[in-house]
Amino acid sequence: MGVIGLGARAEARCRELSRPPYSEDPNALTRTYLTPPHRAAMDRIAGWMRETGMSIREDEAATLVGRLEGTKPGSPALVFGSHIDSVRDAGCYDGPLGVMLALACVEAIAAAGRRPPFAIEIVAFGDEEGSRFQTSMNASRAFVGRLAEVKLDVRDRDGTTLADALTAFGRDPTRIASVTRERSSVLAFVEPHIEQGPVLETAGAALGVVTSIAGQWRLKVRFAGRAGHAGTTPMHLRADALAAAAEAVLAAERIATEGPADLVATVGQVAAKPGAPNVIPGHAEITIDVRAGTDPVRDEGLRQIEAAIAEIAMQRGVKVEVERVQNLPAARMDARLQGLLKRAAEKFGHAAPELVSGAGHDAMMLADFAPTAMLFIRCAGGISHNPAESVTPEDCEAALGVLLAFVDVFAAEQPE
Ligand code: GLV
Ligand code: MN
Ligand code: MN
Repeated sequence: MGVIGLGARAEARCRELSRPPYSEDPNALTRTYLTPPHRAAMDRIAGWMRETGMSIREDEAATLVGRLEGTKPGSPALVFGSHIDSVRDAGCYDGPLGVMLALACVEAIAAAGRRPPFAIEIVAFGDEEGSRFQTSMNASRAFVGRLAEVKLDVRDRDGTTLADALTAFGRDPTRIASVTRERSSVLAFVEPHIEQGPVLETAGAALGVVTSIAGQWRLKVRFAGRAGHAGTTPMHLRADALAAAAEAVLAAERIATEGPADLVATVGQVAAKPGAPNVIPGHAEITIDVRAGTDPVRDEGLRQIEAAIAEIAMQRGVKVEVERVQNLPAARMDARLQGLLKRAAEKFGHAAPELVSGAGHDAMMLADFAPTAMLFIRCAGGISHNPAESVTPEDCEAALGVLLAFVDVFAAEQPE
């Protein structure tokens, strides 16, 4: 297969990875960290990496690392990568597309009998979404040495700790520090990724270069009221935890709607207890995800939402506890690498406009560690975190062409 076709095959491989045994759900794509479908996907991808002549290893955070040596064995690497975990009921490109395109790039280089002056690595992180444990990006956090933020005692819905899940996956959580890379071993990190928004499609562009990634807060908010009989408790004598949570959902929506255009707030999970049709909910728990392109806007949105929640709880006579589960500040991409990606895109006949990423990415972790950039691939209708997520094989071919041109312009910049 020539270069034409490898990009399209990257797209097809994402679809292959969207079904059992690569999904927890026979009718939808759900692949969360350290589950049998995660193992199956890693094994399949490792097989594809080996076919291209890459050596394979798996670190103690269950990140798959493939490596193609350059002309000088043991040299620092240009690292491509993304994640292979998914949200629940996901589309099949968010994450795997970046890994599959990187693989296509290495395959094209190897097939041409070429060796760049540096190594090329592909990393497939397993925990970008945070769908299983409370925090996200544990694998890339460990990779860059943010070990204090990797809480091995966090639990999934079934009560399994991250440490136990790593052990069951065949990893050794007591050796998590070994995951952290030597800074000098990474020349740069480039993450190709489906855009997950409508900007490129609206601009009529197949590809884009990310300038920065929006900052995020993740909150868990617990309301404690009083459970009671649904038939006998007059409305004015109730302390309904779910009704308070419902008001908080609408307050978050209103604050984000009335705030700056880049401020967004989402309640994605709601739970009420005891959970019976004839019992007033005594407890309710919601998650709130707050994001903006800059941290001051994000933090002001958070301040207003937390103040509104405190006011709602007071008015309704329920107790409330707000836990700030995760703080991901906005991340700027490396200006020099952005320029090289644009130059590579121009070489390949694409304009590749600049855009801000509203979605979070492992590149946020890498940005403080090594020069980091992202190449976005156009997304049909801007739909993502949804099974209808879609890219075209033609756009994947274009992305592959740009990645190959990027390796050349990056190599031309390296000192002899
Ligand atoms: C991941 O896709 C996120 O933006 O939360
Ligand atoms: Mn995602
Ligand atoms: Mn993603």
